[in-house]
Order: sequence, then C-alpha cells, then structure tokens
Amino acid sequence: MNRRQRSTAIFPGSFDPITNGHLDIVGRSLRVFDEVRVAILVNPEKRPLFTVEERVALIREAYRGNRRVHADTFSGLLVDYAEKVGASVIVRGIRAISDFEFEFQMALMNRRLNPRIETVFMMPAESYSYLSSRLVKEVFQLGGKVTGLVPPVVERRLREKYGAPAPPVGPRPRARGRA
Ligand code: PNS
Repeated sequence: MNRRQRSTAIFPGSFDPITNGHLDIVGRSLRVFDEVRVAILVNPEKRPLFTVEERVALIREAYRGNRRVHADTFSGLLVDYAEKVGASVIVRGIRAISDFEFEFQMALMNRRLNPRIETVFMMPAESYSYLSSRLVKEVFQLGGKVTGLVPPVVERRLREKYGAPAPPVGPRPRARGRA
C-alpha cells in the first residue's frame, strides 16, 4: 500500500489571545494540510496578558475533540522547531498589505536559515481583516463587546481576568421634575 506521509503545517505566533481570525486561518490550513500545529512563541521579553500555559489551554479548549489541531510552545528559532516536529510548512496570515512587509522579511529570513521549510501565506475572511489580539484586549478592557471576534472560551477567560466589561458611559439621566 502506498502510504502518504501526513503533512503538518506550523501556525506560529503569540496568540495572546487566539482570535476568530486565527481560527479562520487554522480552518483554511486544514483544507490543505493533514494537521496544524499552533505554536506559541515563549518570549521572556514580552509581558503577555495570558501566560503561555493559559494560551495553550485556550487553544486546546477551542479545538477540543479535533485531532488535527495541536497546541504547542517553542523557543529559539522557528525553523529549528519546525525541523524538530517534522513540519516543512509555516503558515502565516496576511490581513492587509501592511502585514506583508514584515511577513515577507520573516519568510525570507526563515528560508535562508532553512531552505527546506516553506512559508505559506493565507488570507482570513475579509470580516476579520481588522482583527488583532491587541485590539481585542483593548476593546474588552474599555467595555466594548468582543463576541464573535474570539472563541467563547476566550471571552469567558477575559471576563475572569478583567471582570465583566464596564457598561458604556452615556449621558446622565436627567433628575425628574427639574428643568
Ligand atoms: O504573532 P506574532 O507575534 O506576529 O508572531 C511572531 C513569530 C512568533 C512568528 C516570530 O516572532 C517568530 O517566529 N519568532 C521566533 C524567532 C525566530 O525564528 N526568528 C527568526 C525568524 S525571522
């Protein structure tokens, strides 16, 4: 029997936290690859909202029961991690032209470091083209709704971290019987 080797793509990033834009890219990747490894960079220089362990748990929860998606962490060079797990493809999402320049630089540097590993760019649905983890955190902190922008488990964990979002500030109701 001719057994084809399973194709694995790595989807690396900070994922602080994972958003529906990321989920969209994972979904598209699963149409092309057998499995996707969502790989969180352990970066001691950043001060993330969610710890690496929390981010892994959120991704595992979002993909509970899906055996084609794995959450993992890495430190050091991404291409070394890719070799270690036997993946030959890195997937990155491009939301807008503004993403492209940095992504292009990274892809070419990774190719120079390890020519056996290819970078594939994917575009999320247009409805997620403005979405980022940073904006999700900011909007939630300021009392805005993030429903539909992040998986429900992330919204729950944001509420646990920050408490329920503050109600929006509007005009103060007038006192009765006064002009
Ligand atoms: O979600 P992010 O923060 O845009 O992800 C950036 C990430 C993690 C993909 C990138 O910083 C990375 O791959 N870092 C690992 C270090 C590395 O390999 N650097 C050289 C390649 S440019």
